[in-house]
Amino acid sequence: MSKVSKVFLSEKEMPKHWYNLAADLPTPLQPPLGPDGNPVTPEMFAPIFPMNLIEQEVSPERWIDIPEGVLELLYRWRPTPLHRAYHLEQALGTPAKIYYKNESLSPAGSHKPNTAVAQAWYNKEFGIKRLTTETGAGQWGSALAFACSLLGLECKVYMVRISFDQKPFRKMLMGAWGANCVPSPSTETKTGQAILDKDPDTPGSLGIAISEAIEAAVMDESGQTKYSLGSVLNHVMLHQTIIGQEIKKQLEIFGEKTPDVVIGCAGGGSNFAGTAFPFVADKINGADIDIIPVEPASCPTLTRAPFLYDHGDVAKMTPLLPMYSLGHEFIPPPIHAGGLRYHGMSPLVCAATLEGLLNPRAIHQMECYESAILFAKTEGIVVAPETSHAVAATIQEANKAKEEGKEKVIVFNLSGHGLLDLTGYDKFLKGELTDYALPEEDILKYTEPLADLPKPSMAKTGKW
Ligand SMILES: Cc1ncc(COP(=O)(O)O)c(C=O)c1O
Repeated sequence: MSKVSKVFLSEKEMPKHWYNLAADLPTPLQPPLGPDGNPVTPEMFAPIFPMNLIEQEVSPERWIDIPEGVLELLYRWRPTPLHRAYHLEQALGTPAKIYYKNESLSPAGSHKPNTAVAQAWYNKEFGIKRLTTETGAGQWGSALAFACSLLGLECKVYMVRISFDQKPFRKMLMGAWGANCVPSPSTETKTGQAILDKDPDTPGSLGIAISEAIEAAVMDESGQTKYSLGSVLNHVMLHQTIIGQEIKKQLEIFGEKTPDVVIGCAGGGSNFAGTAFPFVADKINGADIDIIPVEPASCPTLTRAPFLYDHGDVAKMTPLLPMYSLGHEFIPPPIHAGGLRYHGMSPLVCAATLEGLLNPRAIHQMECYESAILFAKTEGIVVAPETSHAVAATIQEANKAKEEGKEKVIVFNLSGHGLLDLTGYDKFLKGELTDYALPEEDILKYTEPLADLPKPSMAKTGKW
């Protein structure tokens, strides 16, 4: 019998609920805080988000039904296949069995449309006509542009300057879906103008672009514009959990039980959370799984930043979030994995890390590109620079399994393809890229000024 190399699910088998890790965290998630240091109320989010999404953001429910209207949008490309990476295994000579979930098959080329279509749908239900957002490498911006085009909403995208210049094709893709994309910082908002006055050559950052997009949404006095975020917040993590739930069903069809290792790259945390949270639930209930979020060594949020209350953006428009943070004013070095250049991280991912349920890892960009090239030559897919971090950690784990002589089951999320990110590959192949380790002084420089903000509790059960 020939070997099974990928498993599809039918539309009927697609999960009909999102999984909310907040319901199962052993130590309760700490709330976001307002400027007065008190927990924010749902009403305080109302100028930015529609109430139906705010309800999800604060929901304590374990399972949340996916509305039929959202399922119909997801059916356009879901369920996505789970592949067995036989050719990579062979090249590595590892006894490990490597599986990858192929989220690159969405129309925008990544996992981001999973939440984009849900957010656009809830906004439309709420009577909203226009969405604003930020984007790093352009994956999220193009995902929201796609979702808005399906639902007839206007879409405005503030794209981090360095990516706007390095990656023109994503901006064109957004244009094809009818969105308006400008470089951030822009002259269109007060925040953007103030930053440009100080530093006209800034490469920009996600923190700046978020401030601009929120400002543009709240300044629309008609109330018909809201802001949409592609990662970090609880409702975004929630929408992505369809990934991990599908993986579970597909692993079962492959004949696997619990995987030994689950891996995802982590920028704001959403593809990692979506992949891993259903497995984190198993770990809380006793399963032995090594769950690894992977980040760039040049933007080491989970591995080196302190756990504190910080703003999600430069202009301090977001509430204070309990998270590992490099500081909201931190401008990460201009590496090619634009979607992993974020100073903070999803509070849910941070809470699970603090609890000891996750084992975060930072990897340098040269090793990531080397790993991505090996993956392209063996499995054929040219992954996004962000995804290359998950590939690199997978190869590290497969080599470890080889040293230990163990037939481990390793699953990683292939969060996106890199066909519109070839500049980074080109530079790598020409020998023009180098590694960059963030000096400790930089972390202190941007986090010490946060000392006066309220401190989150460091409490944990100590079970993991
Ligand atoms: C392909 C891909 N993977 C991962 C990420 C990181 O984002 P997140 O951590 O929210 O999944 C991005 C962000 O732009 C991305 O485009």
